[in-house]
Amino acid sequence: MLEIRNLSQYYGEFCALKDISFDLGENEILGIIGQNGAGKTTLINSITGLGGRPSGTVRLDGTDILGKRPDTIARLGVARTFQNLRIFRGMTVREHLLVAQNRKLSPGRKLLPNFRNTEDAGVDALLEFFDILRFRDDDAEGLSYGDRRRVEMARALAGSPKLLILDEPGAGMNEQESEVLASQIREIRERFHTAIILIEHDMSIIRACCERIIVLDHGQKIAEGSFEQIAADREVQRAYLGEEDA
Ligand SMILES: Nc1ncnc2c1ncn2[C@@H]1O[C@H](COP(=O)(O)OP(=O)(O)OP(=O)(O)O)[C@@H](O)[C@H]1O
Ligand SMILES: [Mg+2]
Repeated sequence: MLEIRNLSQYYGEFCALKDISFDLGENEILGIIGQNGAGKTTLINSITGLGGRPSGTVRLDGTDILGKRPDTIARLGVARTFQNLRIFRGMTVREHLLVAQNRKLSPGRKLLPNFRNTEDAGVDALLEFFDILRFRDDDAEGLSYGDRRRVEMARALAGSPKLLILDEPGAGMNEQESEVLASQIREIRERFHTAIILIEHDMSIIRACCERIIVLDHGQKIAEGSFEQIAADREVQRAYLGEEDA
């Protein structure tokens, strides 16, 4: 469903992404890992129409989306969360989801049966899924960091995306929360029938969720494969050991 070919992104002379190519199938969970500054966020920013002037090809179900506006890409069915949370000021948790939900009416995309009744039923089901239903009418800004992360994920799903992109959803979570998150991510795929791109530093989450992983290093794809394959990859080991040496 997603086809990326020779995607590059320069900031002036600096090459943040170089000739990245990969595919993503429907219902697949793809992990993207790499050191700080490797280009992970830049990659998904390029896919979602945020920042810079990327070159190459990004096709979503055959439609070229590279260079399209973020809201256009969202309407085509791509939703994301942000590494630095984007919670709206003065809005309740419920309102965050309703805003996203009202954008979901993209052509050819059917609502799931249990989300068909009323908007609020859909919102409540999502909030319950992320265990934040009790905060429904609270100001989202007042929630804990972990709960605000969950609001972001619920908001992204409220638009019934066919592709969900998560930028470090496990950041700041403890071990137990990370375990819950990993099983939620797998469950999202089953329940909401969405493909997922997962950027994560927490290897336990990556290992638990992703059947395929891409490793970025200095803007380049240095490996792609299963967790076992990339863990055994010499170049990946070198890229990661480099940090321990520093
Ligand atoms: N708008 C920008 N202008 C100039 N350089 C940028 C810009 N955005 C990102 N960069 C640079 O591009 C490189 C990749 O950054 P990016 O944020 O994609 O890394 P990342 O892999 O997401 O890292 P992290 O794990 O820390 O989130 C970094 O060197 C960063 O400084
Ligand atoms: Mg990042």
